[in-house]
Amino acid sequence: MSILDISALPKENSSMATIAVLPGDGIGPEVTAQAVKVLAVTAEVFGLQLQFDRALIGGQAIDETGESLPAETEALCKRSAAVLLGAVGGPKWDNPDAETRPEQGLLKLRFGLGLYANLRPVKPSRFLRSASVIKEEVLEGVDLIVVRELTGGLYFGQPSRIWQSDDHWQAVDTLSYTEGEINRILHKAFQIATSRKRKVTSVDKQNVLSTSRLWRRLATQMASSYSSVTLEHLLVDACSMHLVTKPSTFDVIVTENMFGDILTDEASVLAGSLGMLPSASLGEGGIGLYEPIHGSAPDIAGTDKANPIGTILSGAMLLRYTLQQEAAAQAVEKAVESVLERGYRTVDIRQPGTTLVGTAEMGDLVSAAVRASSGAAGK
Ligand code: IPM
Ligand code: MG
Repeated sequence: MSILDISALPKENSSMATIAVLPGDGIGPEVTAQAVKVLAVTAEVFGLQLQFDRALIGGQAIDETGESLPAETEALCKRSAAVLLGAVGGPKWDNPDAETRPEQGLLKLRFGLGLYANLRPVKPSRFLRSASVIKEEVLEGVDLIVVRELTGGLYFGQPSRIWQSDDHWQAVDTLSYTEGEINRILHKAFQIATSRKRKVTSVDKQNVLSTSRLWRRLATQMASSYSSVTLEHLLVDACSMHLVTKPSTFDVIVTENMFGDILTDEASVLAGSLGMLPSASLGEGGIGLYEPIHGSAPDIAGTDKANPIGTILSGAMLLRYTLQQEAAAQAVEKAVESVLERGYRTVDIRQPGTTLVGTAEMGDLVSAAVRASSGAAGK
């Protein structure tokens, strides 16, 4: 049984798991295609029955239906075991006066599925240490996971609006958290820490924000029920510095929605590229949402330059948390490592002496490595 209590049971047919695939915008379709490719091969090798059903989200969905999350997409996700998502957004839909924005579809999906726990592991590949702008000795031993609260805080607080009063414009967003919202994410973080290095860093801005003072108080209280775990508190500004000066000191970082968004883009620098990082968004129900942490990168969309590894590794998280297929998840992770070890790189992680490949070829290489490893294991 997973520590995250995610039910592996597909809804209708016990032998078939439906995966809703939402490619989205920009590079989303290219990177999800590679993750589906790798998942399909892995399913074959491990004897899993996966069915992939595609649906619209984000800007593409707005163009075709007027909605960023069409009802059909939401219904498909709700009857699936898991959702695999690419990315949403792009300059085409960036009009600040637009009523409907691509990002709203993603936020509505996360909220609608109750996915309050966003897990973002950062474990730089040893073959990519020199690809990072951070010194190699600083990267030694880095293995952390950010547990980002995903359905509260500034992203969802009301009021949130822009208006004109007299002669000037004004805007408001609201940062609000309830005790229940904070406790459930803290629980997830402590639970995860018990099967790792047993350290939780709770990140807040308690010297300024009331929500942070509540957060810190609840984290301190919760620590007493997890005696094997050490709790440390860190202000978010200090955390952002420690992430690049002494990242190996972290184990589990737990933080509110917006801080987690910002800190994980920063943490991706440790892994060599934003394109490397996967994520899993989980709640109490059986559905998980799996997506790379990067955006839609419209500047390179359709050019076969995007790094699909973050999405492929999100597929590994899907195998681990939703389908509870730990061996299959590890096979994908090892396949990625072996492809990197053999020197294949997309342009974002390119280093001297390596072989440049495109998005699709990277997907092919990882798929072949999954197959090869199963052959080696005598399957
Ligand atoms: C992420 C992204 C999203 C977020 C955007 C696209 C709404 O930046 O998943 O980190 O802010 O959560
Ligand atoms: Mg982000």
